[in-house]
Amino acid sequence: MTTPWNDYYQNIRQSLGGRQNGFDFIFNYLKSLNRKVCIIETGTYREENNYTGDGCSTLLFDNFIHHYGGTLISIDIDPEACKLAKANTKHAEIIESDSVEYLALLDGKCDLLYLDSYNIENWNDDWAAASHHLKELFAAKNIITPGTLIVIDDNIITPYNKRLGKGRLVYELMDALVIEPVIDNYQVGWIWEEASLQDGGEHPIYEPTDT
Ligand SMILES: C[S@@+](CC[C@H](N)C(=O)[O-])C[C@H]1O[C@@H](n2cnc3c(N)ncnc32)[C@H](O)[C@@H]1O
Repeated sequence: MTTPWNDYYQNIRQSLGGRQNGFDFIFNYLKSLNRKVCIIETGTYREENNYTGDGCSTLLFDNFIHHYGGTLISIDIDPEACKLAKANTKHAEIIESDSVEYLALLDGKCDLLYLDSYNIENWNDDWAAASHHLKELFAAKNIITPGTLIVIDDNIITPYNKRLGKGRLVYELMDALVIEPVIDNYQVGWIWEEASLQDGGEHPIYEPTDT
């Protein structure tokens, strides 16, 4: 069935390059929730109509909220990017702040946490960007609940099979937690789940003891 959202998205989709499959998953997942959703992103709309380069995630999310309802918060440290995003969105709350500092203030339930701040200037050294996104994930701990879709933009696998990008360290963390990616392209993504014990036993509880 074609809907105004489908028409809009199919039209834009051709410009999304390597992010097509990732955004397909994101919007199908959000639609499957069948309710108003909460989207929080870091790194806002900073360059006009750069769908192929940047993704223009803020505009896509703003349109999704326009058609399906819900909340969109977009955080960016750059006043110019915030100004552009405010001028081009109808529903987004644009927050000018360092992303880690602001995420740490939030509480509640987020359906999509889209992390796309701190740019990679040099793909041979992704440490600063990858660590910033790991910090963002930790700072967002009070809004991540089972079912939260966490997506990080700007990732590649080199011809030598080495993973690089903003999501590299979060990828390693999720791997250690045995949470399989649901998106694994230029964007990487996971649906958060609490750790379960393999033998189905109780989680160990450590309490302070008087010694
Ligand atoms: C790649 S752009 C975001 C693009 C946007 N998501 C889109 O698809 O159009 C990255 C943005 O992250 C912002 N940024 C960099 N460091 C940041 C930080 N510490 N906190 C918040 N935003 C930051 C930059 O100002 C820039 O606007």
